[in-house]
Order: sequence, then structure tokens, then C-alpha cells
Amino acid sequence: MNLVVGVGLRAGTSYRELRALVGEAVAEAGGGKVRILITVDGRESEPGLQRLAAYLGAELQTVAPAELKRQGVPSPSAEVERLAGTPSVAEAAVLSTGAELVIDKRKSAQATAAVGRLASAPGYAPGERHVVHRVLAERRDVRRGFVDRPIPDDVLMRVLESAHRAPSVGLSQPWDFLLIREVGTRRKIHDLASAQRDAFAASLPVERRKQFDGLKIEAILDTPLNIAVTCDAGRGGRHVLGRHADPRTTWFSAAIAIQNLWLAARAEGLGVGWVSFFKPGEVAAVLDLPAHIELVGYLCVGYVEEFAPTPELVRSGWASRRPLSWAVHHESWGRRGLPGAEPTSIAADAERAEQTTAQTIARAELPRQVVRVVIGGDPADYLARADTLVVQIGDQPAADFGVLWRPARDAAEGVETGVELVRDLMLQGATELVVQVVADSDVAEAVARGLRVGARACGIGLRDEPVELPHSSA
Ligand SMILES: Cc1cc2nc3c(=O)[nH]c(=O)nc-3n(C[C@H](O)[C@H](O)[C@H](O)COP(=O)(O)O)c2cc1C
Repeated sequence: MNLVVGVGLRAGTSYRELRALVGEAVAEAGGGKVRILITVDGRESEPGLQRLAAYLGAELQTVAPAELKRQGVPSPSAEVERLAGTPSVAEAAVLSTGAELVIDKRKSAQATAAVGRLASAPGYAPGERHVVHRVLAERRDVRRGFVDRPIPDDVLMRVLESAHRAPSVGLSQPWDFLLIREVGTRRKIHDLASAQRDAFAASLPVERRKQFDGLKIEAILDTPLNIAVTCDAGRGGRHVLGRHADPRTTWFSAAIAIQNLWLAARAEGLGVGWVSFFKPGEVAAVLDLPAHIELVGYLCVGYVEEFAPTPELVRSGWASRRPLSWAVHHESWGRRGLPGAEPTSIAADAERAEQTTAQTIARAELPRQVVRVVIGGDPADYLARADTLVVQIGDQPAADFGVLWRPARDAAEGVETGVELVRDLMLQGATELVVQVVADSDVAEAVARGLRVGARACGIGLRDEPVELPHSSA
């Protein structure tokens, strides 16, 4: 049985006393393996407690008084409250780990002990858990503010070790890390990124291009170290466990290694910027990679002045973060909501005007961005205009960034499709939609209806435009 032992103790309580108290408490609880020895913040430095943790082979954890106070304990004590600022230490500490108390708390002259049973292996202590969530929240893609400070080898080593610990399909570990410091090489890579930057800028509508001009998209020459993370799709040979049905898992594995690297770097105070303004083959050629090695990510790494609290694309108004409640579905696609909330369809959500997503997403002072949504029709007739997005609801079209395939199966799904599309476009900075329904079908009309409902809910302007057949003789 996995046990947690909570201990409240006065300063200087001896190891002998603690060992006897805890030994009896654990025996009364029926025995088991003590995984966690837990007490209030500050008492972890008590030598007796440290020795006891070592003797038990348990992790010594602490918890803040405020957290202890939140626990509803069976035997609160006014005396403990006076001394420790919480009515219980031992029992409350056990409960704070999610364990269930199994005996009444026991006392010795200087200490109290409570024993709890864990239904499963323990997680991290609250303080440590917090650090993990913190690094996830505070990781940033960094492109500016790099400082002239070399990266020590031991720091880089820790970062690469973390990357190399990533999960991988069949433990194939398909990644490699090519470290690039040579300025000459970085210049060539920089030229490739600049060319793609120009190509992307040229593809944008005028207003969006102005906005893009203010964005920095790489730090290839501003950082002392670039890392090309590659993937060998054949790593591990023929029978890699888990890869046979879905070869994409190889690339997923390499991408996860990058995320590990990114998080470890953040913890070390190193900024990382991922650059993808390349055709992967062009980079492979500059780096003279063997033909079977593919580029997954190109990273610019260095110390920075600061880590911004929010993504640069959010700060600049280019794009917004998608609310979690939009991304969580329960049991079947479209029943969305946060855990514990009643799932709802996005169409129903958008219909409830008082819960407008416009209130969820701050859209203050965004530059005007009109998107013309054409439902149905031949993309070739419409895509010459950079502001146009063609939504295809029938068979899958050829891949094109201007064409969105949304094969709604009936009118209800069509409405959902429309609402979702407005939400997506809003997150990418759209402030107005112009809608043209070219396809003559109930589903096409339903998508247009969804666009209207979604636009109202998102606080986006929408104008219907009559269909003008591009090559009509009229
Ligand atoms: C696969 C991938 C490619 C990216 N490519 C670029 C890029 O070429 N240029 C850039 O400025 N940011 C790039 N980014 C960074 C994203 O813009 C960034 O992750 C996003 O805006 C969220 O910001 P955050 O990472 O600071 O949370 C890329 C991110 C990923 C995951």
C-alpha cells in the first residue's frame, strides 16, 4: 500500500521520537510503503525529519499553511492553530496530497503524525507541480532582445539531455541535433528565411502586410547558437513498435524533442525561437544533410533580456489564443466545454448573445482585416484576390492555403462549420467578413447562417455579397 505520513513537530524534535511515533502510526495503519513524508513549509530543515525521510526512503515534501487551512480535517486543534496558523498540520498535510486518512492522528511529546493511503502513485508536491506548470506557461518563442553572452557547455548539455529524453515511437529516437555557430552558415540560412519572408509578405492583403512588416520572425544572426533538429524516418529499422500504421509518429516524436528542448531552455533562462520560413530541402542543402535526414525545426538559441508574459503575436494583435473550452469535446465531436461544465455545441453557445466570445477575446484596437469567404465555387476563379478564402463543402480539393475543406454532412453541421470558421478567422485577426454563397445547396446556406451567428457572437462585422459569376457572360 502507498502511504503518506503527515507530521507536525516542534523545532528540534529528535529523530528517535519521530521514528517511534511514525513507526507506531504506520503499524496501526496496517503497514505499507511510505512514499511521502509531508509537513508544513519551513519544517523541512529539521534534522530529525530529514533523517526519518532517509530512513523510510520517502520523499520529504512541504505544504504552505494556507493550503493546510483549506483542508477539512477530522480533529482540528486550537493550540496548533495558535502555533502554526492552521488548525491542523499532520492530518491536513496528508489530505493535501489527495490521500485518505486511515487512522486517528497520534501524538508524542513534541510531534503529531497522521497516516493516509494513496489510491495511486503520488504526483509532485504542490510547490514542485507549480514549477512545472509555470515553465509550460512561461515558455516563449523569442525573436528579440538577445544578449551577448555565450552559452556554457554544461547548460547546453542539460538542455540537450532533456530534449533527448523525449518520448518517441517504439523508442526509435529519430531526432538529431545539429549545432550551428558559424556565421557564414547562419548567413546562408538567414538569406533563405528572408526570401520566404518576402514571399509570404507578397501573398498577404495590403492591411495584413502592413501588420506583418512590423513583426520579427527569426533571430538567426542575433543568437550565438542555432540548432537544426532533424528526423530520420527510418531510424530503428523495419519493426519499430507503433509506427507501422502511422508513419507520422516519427515526426511527432522529433517535434516533442523540440518541445522538451524549449522548456528546458526556458528553465535555464535561454530564449528559443523556432523559424519555419524555409522550404525544408533548402536548409538541408545549405547544411549538406544526407538525403534521408529531414529538417523538423530550426531553432535560434541564446540568453535574453526578458521573457515576455504573452506571445509576441498576441501582443502585436496578429493573432489570439484559442480558449480551452473551444478545444475540449466530450464523447463526440462538437460537445464542447471545460471539464465539469455542461457540454454545448458552439452554435448554441454563439446563439446565447450574452455569452459572446467577443467578451472572451480582447479585440481592442485591431487593424481592419476583411476576409472574403466564398462558399463553394471553383477556387481558381476566386483566389487571385489575397483577401479571399474558398470554403469547399464537397469532395476534398487539392491542397491550397486559400481553400478550406469543410465537408459538413448536414445543415446542422453546416451551421457549426460556419460558427467555427468565424472563430478561427477572428483568432487570426479578422475584423470583418464578406460572404458569398456560390454553391446552391442547403448545406452551403447553413454554413452561411453559421457565419452570421458566429460573427454576431464574436463581434465581427459581416456583409453578404451577391454572387457574381466570375466568367459570366451577363
Ligand atoms: C512549428 C512552429 C513553427 C514556428 N515558426 C515560426 C517562425 O517561423 N517565425 C516566428 O516568428 N515564430 C514561429 N513560431 C513561433 C510561434 O509564432 C509561437 O509559438 C506562437 O506565436 C505562440 O507564442 P509562444 O511560443 O511565445 O507561446 C513557430 C512555432 C512552431 C511551433
